[in-house]
Amino acid sequence: MMRRNPPKPDAHLCTPLDGGSLAKAGRDPLHRLADRIKADSRITVLTGAGVSAASGIPTFRGPDGLWKNFRPEELATPEAFERDPRLVWEWYDWRRQFIARCKPNRAHEVLALWSQRYPKFTLITQNVDGLHERADTANVVRFHGSIWEVLCWNGCAASPKRWRDETVPFPKIPPHCPHCGGLIRPGVVWFGEGIDPVVLSCSQDALDCDIFLSIGTSSIVQPAASLIHGADANGAFTVEINVETTAAASYLDLSIQSPAEKTLEEVENLLGGLGKKNR
Ligand code: OAD
Repeated sequence: MMRRNPPKPDAHLCTPLDGGSLAKAGRDPLHRLADRIKADSRITVLTGAGVSAASGIPTFRGPDGLWKNFRPEELATPEAFERDPRLVWEWYDWRRQFIARCKPNRAHEVLALWSQRYPKFTLITQNVDGLHERADTANVVRFHGSIWEVLCWNGCAASPKRWRDETVPFPKIPPHCPHCGGLIRPGVVWFGEGIDPVVLSCSQDALDCDIFLSIGTSSIVQPAASLIHGADANGAFTVEINVETTAAASYLDLSIQSPAEKTLEEVENLLGGLGKKNR
């Protein structure tokens, strides 16, 4: 059970800004974030589905979220796969086809630029779509795996632990393991499954940072939602960028209620503009 900390003394909740440049709003909140980012800052970013929303990929929760029309327990659990691998694969095959047509947006691009500019930068993503990698982001930790990876359901000895397969669409659903002929499964973390220990350890290491940005996530799925508390405990300046405030907002140093693609571009402009390698 998560503990609720009292709001920090300098917590700043930003209200939605309509139209125009967010930067015109004064030193808060974008200048406050930009002021914190130095050439040697240790920056860790946690992203969620909201970062890919401007690329046209639906989020999971909210009015148009995937979990409004689909039931996670029928599509995203090991039990569901055991029961009906065809149904589960139809859903993942549909998502793979959809994602293959989407492109990284400004949020992915700015984060990719930062990953190349700041030497101590880690991006932990809950997204399985691969858009951070397609934007050339360095040092990506895939917290919930990748929709572009698959693994043998039987864990057959002949197959690698997991491998990349970008076939879209699969000619036969459910697809089969090329090594043993059994089923393969998507390389994503399903409900009820644990996070890969190596991934968890990399993520824990990245909590030792100066700035922790939580972007486009509802902050309700554990253990990802707890990462920000670890960074906070390590003394990081914690920031949320989201179109709405989340349960995490009351713990944060700064909550910016605005789309990620717009906010990140504005912060990048304050830092010197897209394309500049260093401040
Ligand atoms: P959610 O769908 O729960 O939350 C998406 C968040 O993005 C919401 O808080 C929205 O307000 C916000 N949002 C939408 N558009 C945005 C934009 N343009 N800019 C900024 N924020 C925006 O997605 P996640 O938090 O990623 O798990 O969900 C976490 C996990 O739950 C997913 O990784 C997935 C899902 O079930 C697994 O598949 C294991």
